[in-house]
Amino acid sequence: MSATRILLGTLAGLATIGMAGTGAAGAATCTATPAQTEGPYYRAGAPQRTVLATAGVRGTRLVVSGRVLDPSCRPVARARVDVWQADGSGAYDNAGYRLRGWVRTDARGRYRFTTVVPGQYPGRTEHIHVKITPPGGDTLTTQLYFPNAGANDGDFIYDRRLLVRLDTSARPWRATFTFVAPR
Ligand SMILES: [Fe+2]
Repeated sequence: MSATRILLGTLAGLATIGMAGTGAAGAATCTATPAQTEGPYYRAGAPQRTVLATAGVRGTRLVVSGRVLDPSCRPVARARVDVWQADGSGAYDNAGYRLRGWVRTDARGRYRFTTVVPGQYPGRTEHIHVKITPPGGDTLTTQLYFPNAGANDGDFIYDRRLLVRLDTSARPWRATFTFVAPR
């Protein structure tokens, strides 16, 4: 993805929480984050760590953060947020755990990890794979996308509901996304 495209993307921030209104009892409801295919590159056994962009990893440094909420819009503490992605040149590490790892949300449902902006690879626009597993809950498998990435519209898996909000004025760049996980 070019810096220009990403810069333009910062202006296109879409709400990442689908507020579906209020339920019969007046409680807030949050629309579940759409699930997407796991794809072929998930590897079990990645380490628990906040910094995925270890020394020598190619790509523009990026901090991804946000929260995990339940369908009633309440924060989910200790949810497991498992991430895997390509490096800035579109390459996955399928032998080791480069750009693979997981964190747990804090008491306010917050997660954060340091990574790089993923590159394109044949057939796919820039994306980050994620699995969200609330304590005792089902796993939500999905992917995150980048606003105004040139290949988004040519990628049949791409879903604009999964766009991060991107700030390229920060150093490192910052992406934010709120997940709504199933109970
Ligand atoms: Fe992928």
